[in-house]
Amino acid sequence: MFMKKFYVTTPIYYPNDKLHIGHAYTTVAADALARYHRLRGEDVFFLTGMDEHGQKIADRAAAEGVSPQVFVDRMAEGIRALWATLRISYDDFIRTTEPRHERTVQEVFRRLLAQGDIYLGRYEGWYCTACESYWTETKLVEGRCPVCSGPVSRLQEESYFFRLGRYADRLLQHIETHPRFLQPESRRNEMVAFIRQGLEDLSVTRTGFDWGVKLPEAAGHVAYVWIDALTNYITAAGYPDDPERFARYWPADVQLVGKEIVRFHAIIWCIMLMALGLELPERIFGHGWLVLSGEKMSKSRGNVVDPVVLVERYGVDAVRYFLLREVPFGADGTYSEAALRLRTNVDLANDLGNLLSRTTAMIERFAQGKVPAPRSSELRAVAEAALSEYERAMGALELSGALEAVGRMVAAANKHIETAAPWTLSRKGDPRLGDVLYDLAEVLRVAAVALSPALVEAPAEIWRQLGVERPISEATWDDVAWGGLVPGTRVRRGAPLFPRIEAEERSEPAAAAAAADERIPIEDVRRVKLVVATVLEARRVEGAERLLELVVDLGSERRTIVSGIAADYAPEALVGGQIVLVKNLKPSKIRGVRSDGMLLAASEAGHVVLLRPDRAVPAGSPVS
Ligand code: MSP
Repeated sequence: MFMKKFYVTTPIYYPNDKLHIGHAYTTVAADALARYHRLRGEDVFFLTGMDEHGQKIADRAAAEGVSPQVFVDRMAEGIRALWATLRISYDDFIRTTEPRHERTVQEVFRRLLAQGDIYLGRYEGWYCTACESYWTETKLVEGRCPVCSGPVSRLQEESYFFRLGRYADRLLQHIETHPRFLQPESRRNEMVAFIRQGLEDLSVTRTGFDWGVKLPEAAGHVAYVWIDALTNYITAAGYPDDPERFARYWPADVQLVGKEIVRFHAIIWCIMLMALGLELPERIFGHGWLVLSGEKMSKSRGNVVDPVVLVERYGVDAVRYFLLREVPFGADGTYSEAALRLRTNVDLANDLGNLLSRTTAMIERFAQGKVPAPRSSELRAVAEAALSEYERAMGALELSGALEAVGRMVAAANKHIETAAPWTLSRKGDPRLGDVLYDLAEVLRVAAVALSPALVEAPAEIWRQLGVERPISEATWDDVAWGGLVPGTRVRRGAPLFPRIEAEERSEPAAAAAAADERIPIEDVRRVKLVVATVLEARRVEGAERLLELVVDLGSERRTIVSGIAADYAPEALVGGQIVLVKNLKPSKIRGVRSDGMLLAASEAGHVVLLRPDRAVPAGSPVS
């Protein structure tokens, strides 16, 4: 039977230091794609790995007093453990020191040399060890590396060169005729401009050190680390020893890379493939950087964020969700732990988690714990539209957009609870009750399927609480078809899906914490008791045109407050609505009226804008 294949790659990581949240970003994105395509029943090959050669690694090993091999073996354990923590479902983990890979690099070199694409010459120029890149005099910026601004050293050595220029026109033509090949568009334009300037021959071997793939045709030389590294993508697919496997998986469908290494992939890698007579990848996608207060995370800047610490603190789903949802894939985005907490609380705890607990609670209360049989659906169309947007977005690698579509469906379900008011339907014995409850549970069931590429724990728990018998690991994309939940299924209420994360005074793992001035400890914030209150009555205060007197319900008591909002709010518009109130403020007399509390409002150009809960909650609900 024909099964569509999907080959997705991450860059292979330098093991010179512990990996940080920036590396996790690429890898989690690739993992979500891999899981989504598996869900669709495709034969997925998801490759990640390590780029273990080069002077930088050799220097690090020397600094630790061990051989490079011992050093990279040690680092490999840490990296695999990190991916296990983040539940990365790779199918192959390639290391460039493996014999299978060294053989491929040697074969690639041999072929390109034999056909005259590679020739022996002399190299004179500048070398940046940090970037493992050569630069000509004219490319340096104030005598330093134009990419990382690090020091460069003068090199003069015999070297083999790759005639990149031979293939420049063909590459340009390919880029122009394949709009999906190189994305996002801004990176494609950059690359086109770069190629048009003319491509210099690339030095592809080194003689200064030996921590690299040795080349039988070039005694004393090792392969330049980028030539070595890029080749990994075909080694793992079976080139050249396993032509059957190679024919199955190559070309790669999606190669994810950070924006700073698009150049290596779009130009050097693709020209290598052309020279070998192999197909180019379907798509290379250059994503943006996750930055901290405007600067890139890097060990040398001392501002790295350890994903393991975050997973311990917030759970794997919160971290994965944040990475995928927070920033549109392709753009640069800012990382902060506060943003991660907010995302988790708003999207996962409030919206998704609450929907699940409210739905299961109402099915228990109003339907004896069993999913009712519906007569019709009000949410089906919303869910189907969201799911087709999800599919489109995933196909376009808009990972954040896809999750946003699921969020819309969840929000629609929460809103449906408010408008349909199942408690009233139940009281009146209205048969719509069954329709509403079924709709809510069914939205949760399909949302869990659509979330399963991103979240690795919550979807299973959603299915479990809904009483779905099959484990979600067996779900396929067909399971998003509306109506899969069998009426009569007994729900199993459980613990909250995502407990709210209380903001705590803790040092951010990033060194780049915000300035400490004017900050108050959390204890001070906790002293202010905020609650939601429902407005029962509202009237103007005589003789004071800006003031309104409100009688509000705090659940356990009624209070009168006076507030300066009359210019922006008519009293009758407030009655029945909710506000947020400071409950433990000392009472005061305003224009002769005792005001016992204070409401919260934003001010904007002389106007006030009331802060209200996003949906109605019981009067007296605490705000924190
Ligand atoms: N070894 C090369 C890749 C060779 S691929 C044939 C390399 N390794 S790396 O470890 O330095 O970086 C790997 C990837 O991590 C890059 O795609 C890079 O963009 C990504 N990231 C590293 N820090 C990052 C952020 N702060 N934000 C997002 N991605 C970042 O380059």
